[in-house]
Amino acid sequence: MSKLTRSPAWQALAAHQRRIAAASLSELFAADASRAGRFSLEAGGLLLDYSKHRIDAETMRLLRELAAQAQVPAWIARMFAGDPVNDTEGRAALHVALRSDRRAFPERGDVMPAVRAARDQMRRFVDEAQRGALKGGGGLPITDIVNIGIGGSDLGPRMLARALRKLRKPGPRLHFVANIDPADLDAALAGLAPGTTFFIVASKSFTTAETLDNAARARAWLESALGESIELSRHFAAVTANAAGAAALGIPAERVFPLWDWVGGRYSVWSAVGLPVALTAGMDAFEELLEGARAMDEHFRTAPLERNLPVVLALLEIWHVNFFGARSRAVIPYSEDLRDLPAYLQQLEMESNGKRVDRDGYEVDYETAPVVWGAAGTPSQHAFHQLLHQGTHLIPVDFVVIGHHGESSGARAALAANALAQSSALAFGNPAPDAPHKALPGNRPSSTLLLERLTPRSLGALIALYEHKVFVEGTIWNLNSFDQWGVEHGKNLARALLKGEKSTELDSSTRLLLARMRGRD
Ligand code: F6P
Repeated sequence: MSKLTRSPAWQALAAHQRRIAAASLSELFAADASRAGRFSLEAGGLLLDYSKHRIDAETMRLLRELAAQAQVPAWIARMFAGDPVNDTEGRAALHVALRSDRRAFPERGDVMPAVRAARDQMRRFVDEAQRGALKGGGGLPITDIVNIGIGGSDLGPRMLARALRKLRKPGPRLHFVANIDPADLDAALAGLAPGTTFFIVASKSFTTAETLDNAARARAWLESALGESIELSRHFAAVTANAAGAAALGIPAERVFPLWDWVGGRYSVWSAVGLPVALTAGMDAFEELLEGARAMDEHFRTAPLERNLPVVLALLEIWHVNFFGARSRAVIPYSEDLRDLPAYLQQLEMESNGKRVDRDGYEVDYETAPVVWGAAGTPSQHAFHQLLHQGTHLIPVDFVVIGHHGESSGARAALAANALAQSSALAFGNPAPDAPHKALPGNRPSSTLLLERLTPRSLGALIALYEHKVFVEGTIWNLNSFDQWGVEHGKNLARALLKGEKSTELDSSTRLLLARMRGRD
């Protein structure tokens, strides 16, 4: 048994689980009229209602013991101090600095001058683009900006640009391209004019095959229309920690926005990777996003465990994954604007904690990150809620709901009503003694995250909340949440396949499929 699973806190939770597993949510609510007030918390303009989980005060006390045992407060301090918490890469994880308003931060190795300079550079570019001063090689104002990036260089800006689309400012339209499938770039370029199209090549490493391939194809598209002598600075910018890589692509230094190795890709939307967000909603809205995240950072750094939203959300995940055997969690934003949130959280959570070897190099004997999945409500209700209500899997749900200033009628009120109805039906079920196929067993856990309004601030707080939740889980599971070594081998195999290397060493399945694809039996 690992240090964690034989630890007193873990053992106490296992024993407690056996006791509380027999209790139903209906009974827990019936026994405590103020349960919702007891198990809800507020911070950063967000309300977390976690009363519909099979927990009581003792459960939360024991879970906090687990967090204390794992020294979560010390690890939080280490991350904010810029310690190399990403130990396999020897790097800090200082995404919080990107939204800090401190003069100097962290105390050791101040990064704020560089962060402020990059933010000023962003503001100048956004201003240039939005007032029509960003001109293509032919002197025409740029009307379309295509963000070429993948993973953390795509999912965050794409999700936030959509989420803030109602705040859209006059200026170029935004398009996103990620996949190496040429259909992605082709679809984005369809109808665009080369003379008025600008590309942002976003890649922390500037070695990612998909992004470099799409950038090269974009350049060829421009050159085939505008000639090979085009001034690249008129049509290209880069966001990267690898300035030499951008220079090799011909992107001049004045069009390179910096990133740093102390920012993980999936934590980078607060940097110039967020340019598409600022180009959509304006630089002021982008600054408000940072403010919202900063408020959550301050809460995370200072609130005691029992009142700390990211900590509580993390402990609930561990409770379900490690003590109730949940293997996935559904994230259901009741908002079309937040439709891309589940995809964003998939990378954030699964690339961070989808690991089986702990910080000490041992294979774990406990489950780690669950599969995160989801879609927007109410369409989700007509897709997979059947399984959530009557299936055999335990799937905790995060409902993300927008308050809509309390409207009591109309479509938005209906949207919110459906979210509340779904979490209630999951929790309390619906007996149907005469028609068992209609019965809902209930006792299915969910959290509801209520945002008063969908604003840059509340969104910043929401994303920072999940980032910190992930860090707390990684700390308790004794994982490094900031590396992703598992993605490299597949990339290397694909590279070798493309080069036709070692084709004789290929397994028969790959050989067969390749032969079929190449039309040779
Ligand atoms: O392959 C995974 C990954 O490295 C992610 O961690 C990252 O967000 C993505 O690829 C893109 O990387 P880059 O920004 O360096 O192109």
